[in-house]
Amino acid sequence: MQGTDHGRRADHGRGGDHGRIPMQSVRNVVAQTDMLAIVREMVEIKKAGSSFKGCCPFHAEKTPSFHVNPGLKLYHCYGCGAGGDVIRFVQETRGLNFVEAIEMLAERVGITLEREAERPEDSARRAEAKSARGRMLELDRAAQAWFRGRLQLPEGRKAYGYAQTRGLTAQTIERFGLGAAGTGWTDLLDHLVRRGFNRDDIIAIGLAKVGDKGGTYDRFRDRLMFPIYTAAGDLVGFGGRDLTGDKEVAKYINSSEITLDGEEENSRFKHFYKKGDCVFGLWQAREAIRRTRTAIVVEGNLDVITLAQAGFDNAVCAMGTALTDAQAKEIKRFADRVALVFDGDAAGRKAAMKAVPVVVGAGLEGSYVVLPQGEDPDSFVRKFGEEAFRDLLQKAPPLIDGYIDALVAESDHSLQANSVILQKAGPLLSAIQDGISRDMARNYLQAQLTKGAIEPHRATFDRYLQRLAPPTPKAEPQQQMRPDATFGEPEVGKLEQDLCAVLVWYPALCGQAAQYGALDLLEHAGIRLALRDLCAVAREQEVDIDTLSGWAQALPDGRARRLILRLLVEAPLCKPDQAQGWLVQVTWRLQERQLKREREQVTEQMKSREVTPEKLAELSTHLSDIMRRLQEFAKAGARQAVAAASGI
Ligand code: CTP
Ligand code: MN
Repeated sequence: MQGTDHGRRADHGRGGDHGRIPMQSVRNVVAQTDMLAIVREMVEIKKAGSSFKGCCPFHAEKTPSFHVNPGLKLYHCYGCGAGGDVIRFVQETRGLNFVEAIEMLAERVGITLEREAERPEDSARRAEAKSARGRMLELDRAAQAWFRGRLQLPEGRKAYGYAQTRGLTAQTIERFGLGAAGTGWTDLLDHLVRRGFNRDDIIAIGLAKVGDKGGTYDRFRDRLMFPIYTAAGDLVGFGGRDLTGDKEVAKYINSSEITLDGEEENSRFKHFYKKGDCVFGLWQAREAIRRTRTAIVVEGNLDVITLAQAGFDNAVCAMGTALTDAQAKEIKRFADRVALVFDGDAAGRKAAMKAVPVVVGAGLEGSYVVLPQGEDPDSFVRKFGEEAFRDLLQKAPPLIDGYIDALVAESDHSLQANSVILQKAGPLLSAIQDGISRDMARNYLQAQLTKGAIEPHRATFDRYLQRLAPPTPKAEPQQQMRPDATFGEPEVGKLEQDLCAVLVWYPALCGQAAQYGALDLLEHAGIRLALRDLCAVAREQEVDIDTLSGWAQALPDGRARRLILRLLVEAPLCKPDQAQGWLVQVTWRLQERQLKREREQVTEQMKSREVTPEKLAELSTHLSDIMRRLQEFAKAGARQAVAAASGI
């Protein structure tokens, strides 16, 4: 993904490639897309029967209710009702519109999208139709292509040389997509404007800035550039390391944090780039983290990169900020454990003390790695070698023990100091989900506290520690409620669900279902209309998977759409050779249900006081007719009943 020139959309002048994307191209792209790979970039999923499941990326949950059917390329979440095809998945997880999602997928499978010829008046409309996020992504990609390109040119010689003095190989530079910002004042700005990018966007995203005298100039100058990716591989910002050595300028500057117009306030995509949401290196490290279930968390960009080059390719960093809950959560998507690595100095220790509760709060376990005074992981590895670093990792105490050690080290063992430690460590211990780890941590705390001068108070501590509450499982948010329970809409009954299941899986049976009159017996109007529509489609053409998923997603009734997408993601209701039998069964039950309803109505009417004797006679004939047919239903086998009722 990184490293390619994504600036093509800026070539407004060239026309040709901007028209509508033909449907056939969309189908080709979808057909060649590996949905599992796409989903796995966002969600950890495991095989479950014929589909795959994992924790939903669209709402917070701990028990997986997100299902993917890779064959059909559809997803559905039982928790929040999100669902759709692979295109929608990309749209929803990356904040892109339809065309942008197709473009992204096309690029991944290496298809050049054909475009229908575009009329000039459409091109303006298309530029407007672009999502704000899509525009910003494109802008950052164009800048990235530029920075990378500079690295190979005379303007980038200084940056390249600097990377080399930091021990980085060409391969590492490539892997992390490092680039160069030269010394020119408006080189990037001019380049981007020439390519058709909007000046205000360039300023907003922090690639250029307006000076005191009103001139606009490049924000990153004379710097080694580090692209910052989301865990999904979207380029959302840059960090630039100073190359001048000038003490007056900031050692690092980063892209501006921006929010997007046109995004809901609570949308995940409201913030295009926010330092505290991004984990530097996670995109490159995620496979290694997944494999080892462990992330090495360090402080700086160059620490991540040097560690990766030394074989620790599961290293990430929070870019110098105190690790945020959002960052810990991102890491938790791929890791069960972290190795928190901190400098041995006071600042490092302070950062560690802040990070531990955040990490534990995110449900991660881990170890607490302290470096010798004055070293960061980069300098340590370069000075002492990989083996020494591996050794450090292996010998590191569990996170909580390290945390307790640090607390105890600062304390004078007075009663007061110890009660402060208890206050700090107590909630942390309670937050440990795993019972055994919690007990061990508690024992450790007890041992540390009772080891010093406070021996006489042991009983008090014991009591306190015993009282530490076991973790309260965090309540999952409201969204966890079944979305099917939408207010006001009638529930979809089991019978309508079964009829849907048979027909969406075996649309060839649509004609037969119509003949039996099964559709007319459905109570839920949305489902009835949807299936009538399916029957109409099936009459015209053979319904293949593409048609089916496209049709399902376009259904206007929300409940029908959700139900049908879910059914498509689930395993088929029955084997192909049983489908006809199922249809007959379901129809039979629908008819029986209908008769029972009629029986109720008639009985109700007969009870009415206003009923005339003539009407009563009529009603009772009707009733006995219904009763007779119901008895037939009860007696006859499904097949015969259907035949009898539909006159075949
Ligand atoms: N950082 C930042 N702004 C600064 C200083 C630091 O955003 N003014 C972030 C960078 O992401 C940096 C990290 O904090 O990588 C750690 O900072 P520091 O330890 O000072 O830098 P190093 O990564 O060690 O970089 P170097 O080795 O080049 O000094
Ligand atoms: Mn450093």
